[in-house]
Amino acid sequence: MDKEPANQSRLRVFMSKSNFWNDVYRSKRINNVSWYADRLNTSLEIIKTNCSKKESSIIDIGAGRSNLVDDLHDIGYKNLTLLDISEEALKQTLERLGKLRVSKETIIGDISKITIEENLYDLWHDRAVFHFLTEKSQRKVYIQNLKRSLKKNGIAIIATFGPDGPDKCSGLNTIKYDKTKLMAELGEDFQILGSKIEYHQTPFDTSQQFLYCWFKIK
Ligand SMILES: C[S@@+](CC[C@H](N)C(=O)[O-])C[C@H]1O[C@@H](n2cnc3c(N)ncnc32)[C@H](O)[C@@H]1O
Repeated sequence: MDKEPANQSRLRVFMSKSNFWNDVYRSKRINNVSWYADRLNTSLEIIKTNCSKKESSIIDIGAGRSNLVDDLHDIGYKNLTLLDISEEALKQTLERLGKLRVSKETIIGDISKITIEENLYDLWHDRAVFHFLTEKSQRKVYIQNLKRSLKKNGIAIIATFGPDGPDKCSGLNTIKYDKTKLMAELGEDFQILGSKIEYHQTPFDTSQQFLYCWFKIK
């Protein structure tokens, strides 16, 4: 068997973030990544409770290959946008969705670098992206995008690793949040509506603590 080059991990560090994630999605099957869940029940419940109109426009940040889009479509939401840094993840998701054409739009881009359009979304959903933004400058751009793209009274759902969550995911460093710390990051333009600690059972029989917080933009 070929030996992995000694400098493999070093090479990865120098890969661009999009190449890194494309590589993850090319090399790992859908249920062979720690964040895989059959159904994002907590996300779905928060969306149904806080954004009940089926014509609402929803963006899933770092959608990856998540089934959330399928489940939202099944319960009647049709105005869905998927954003991810990984073109490969979105390609696989669109292939899975096939003729369903549930996604109105897909955006390939780094949410901590790009500028997304103003006043477009009733709801912003992010499960497991914000905690990868370890630089203040990245979080600043993310929050600018969030503020710019949400409509008045729009809802933001952000799920990060909780205080007892892992320090790393896919070999990348993460920042762990409690409710107070996440509220402080978002700032005074956001009113917290609720929060929940959840233990995600990974496909590898381990548990990861997540913090869900949901906010309304003032
Ligand atoms: C841990 S996965 C979670 C995927 C999905 N939200 C879920 O719950 O199944 C993180 C996702 O965020 C994407 N991602 C990471 N950093 C990103 C960034 N800066 N901008 C946009 N997407 C990013 C990755 O490609 C990956 O699909």
